[in-house]
Amino acid sequence: MAGKRVRKAVLPVAGLGTRVLPGAKTTPKNLLNVVDRPILSYVVEEARAAGIEHFVFIVGRGQGAIEDYFDSIPEIENALEAKGKVDILADVRRDLPKQAGEMSFIRQMAPLGLGHAVWCARDVIGDEPFAVMLPDMLMAATPPALAQAVAAYDRTGGNIVVVEPAPEGETHKYGIVALDGQDGRLNRMTGMVEKPPLGTEPSNLFISGRYILQPDIFEILETQPRGAGGEIQLTDGMATLMKRQDFHALEYEGTTYDCGDKIGLLRANVAFALARPDLADDARAAIKALL
Ligand code: UTP
Repeated sequence: MAGKRVRKAVLPVAGLGTRVLPGAKTTPKNLLNVVDRPILSYVVEEARAAGIEHFVFIVGRGQGAIEDYFDSIPEIENALEAKGKVDILADVRRDLPKQAGEMSFIRQMAPLGLGHAVWCARDVIGDEPFAVMLPDMLMAATPPALAQAVAAYDRTGGNIVVVEPAPEGETHKYGIVALDGQDGRLNRMTGMVEKPPLGTEPSNLFISGRYILQPDIFEILETQPRGAGGEIQLTDGMATLMKRQDFHALEYEGTTYDCGDKIGLLRANVAFALARPDLADDARAAIKALL
């Protein structure tokens, strides 16, 4: 059913991270740690598990540390090698590109909105379907969330939006999808709306940060006026594209942690530590002692 394979992912990280300031002032938000790795490390791993071969980071000023994180640092690697610390060395190297040229970094120049950030990737993506991953939404899932989206795409083609139920009474905080009936987890969409006033939401399913889009979105974003919050919204661009292409919403199986939010980041740290066989016992004891 699907056309071309999904090989590239856009990871927009150029936002200001206002909700986790001052932590995100000099450390890009998506380099903040969850346990012992930056948030981005988990998301790149998720992308690789879905077959992604090229990563396009949309970055802002002062975020050079992201590029450095995905480069080798001979001083560190040589020192670990000399000391025989092979486990730490393997861990440090785990996130590096498998070969040079696997990652691109594009400056957004001004945080004009998610739609604008995605549009910045147009030349690197070219004429093929691609994934968009909002890295601050960390998704614990088996199979990984993007792999679930790619499997859905292989069935339906077109465009896929990963969704999940919003907490009771909180639909007005999110982008919400409208469905053409609900049968199982993968359903055709009929619309979407950004932050609908309570009581007007077309469903309780919010767009949670993983998408597979056709490249036709770029020409739409190019001329799209600013929407909610004065920003160029990806949701508005997708709503326009939906007039001529199919969109399906996939209710993925897993748990999302919004690491762009203080408590979300704390929850992710606790949950990921408890899920780590090497740390779980100590983490549980430390948390118990605090309660
Ligand atoms: P958010 O709105 O969650 O991120 O955007 P933010 O703007 O960094 O956070 P707050 O609201 O100020 O706390 C979702 C994703 O889109 C990226 C962000 O970096 C984040 O990963 N983004 C957003 C951009 O890359 N450029 C933009 O202009 C806006």
